[in-house]
Amino acid sequence: MGHGFDACARIAAIPDRDTIMVVRQEHASEGSQVTGGRTDPYPPTVEYVDGVVVLLDQAALPEVERYVRCEDWQRVARAISDLEVRGAPAIGVTAAFGLALAAERSGAGSADDLLAELAEVAEALVATRPTAVNLAWAVETVLAEAHGAGGGLAADVRRTVVACAQRLAAEDLATCRAIGDAGAGLLAGIDEVITHCNAGALATVGYGTALGVVRSAHRDNPALHVWADETRPVLQGARLTAFELGRDGIACTVIADGAAASVLREGGIGAAIVGADRIAANGDVANKIGTYGLAVAARHHGVPFYVAAPLSTIDLDTPDGSMIEIEQRPAAEVAEYRGHAITPAGAAVHNPAFDVTPADLVDAIITEVGVLRAPYGPAIEAALGRRGAGAAG
Ligand code: MRU
Repeated sequence: MGHGFDACARIAAIPDRDTIMVVRQEHASEGSQVTGGRTDPYPPTVEYVDGVVVLLDQAALPEVERYVRCEDWQRVARAISDLEVRGAPAIGVTAAFGLALAAERSGAGSADDLLAELAEVAEALVATRPTAVNLAWAVETVLAEAHGAGGGLAADVRRTVVACAQRLAAEDLATCRAIGDAGAGLLAGIDEVITHCNAGALATVGYGTALGVVRSAHRDNPALHVWADETRPVLQGARLTAFELGRDGIACTVIADGAAASVLREGGIGAAIVGADRIAANGDVANKIGTYGLAVAARHHGVPFYVAAPLSTIDLDTPDGSMIEIEQRPAAEVAEYRGHAITPAGAAVHNPAFDVTPADLVDAIITEVGVLRAPYGPAIEAALGRRGAGAAG
């Protein structure tokens, strides 16, 4: 305690555009970022401070804790593409901050010119990662508010865009806490859970979705233990889930993805819980590649499979999972490990970043307005209606 992160001081210490700052280890281990009256032992994922988007570099974790400083929206787009920031809610908020940055740096003299510029920036940001619908949702939310900006002056548009992005960031944290608390009851009496990828504080502004449920359940049951799939090829489970659960003092064991089925067969695991990048109108769930296999194995062994996600991850324009665009990532993510080739030169590689778990393998979808059960079509419509009516948890 007493060594909290000071975002302004941190930014002031960073010399040039596009540089990174290594955060001293004592700050990282004693960090006390206070959010919502609670002390979080991990640094914030993304912030917008004094016209700069500052990201905790998730590509470098856990070896190095450092921040990426983005001073133009193109650098924000690159950070999203290169997984320096990742996780559906986190990239949504980051893109919103990218628009804020573009608006503040733009020299446009009229509201119309600025809105035209922002539309181009929005298109480029949305194209960085096509599967996570939170990205498009956040960008569309900011643009819609920008178009409605009161006085019709460029300054009004700028102010509105920045305020909207900051609000989305604050809402993301509150939403994750609500998801965590809504889902905690599902883990009551359970000591062992399994998860895939990282749907935690790092994948959001803070607290997390699937790991938010784990955090809330851990408050009542400190014995709760998490099995974390390593999550090939980028190792979000091994690197990020283990990192943040360790910081939170939640017991965690990393396993190879291929070990999940046999760990489930050994018994003792009471639930599988994951996040989502897009949920279709019928409840089909796109999430990190390997999620589908985990769902199949969980069902085979009679273990409930839960998905935790904000309502902004639900895409009513996508009727079912077959319509979800699956992002294809560079072959090098599979063919290399940290720059070293692990396949023969010229080996064919297929690297889809996500897969789709059919709704009938999903035992519940945990949202900020409560736990949804099949049939998901009507449950989703009712939940979106509750959000529309202003419910929040
Ligand atoms: O490729 P990534 O690391 O962005 O994939 C992240 C996931 O698949 C998460 O499970 C999902 O975005 C939910 S994050 C709360």
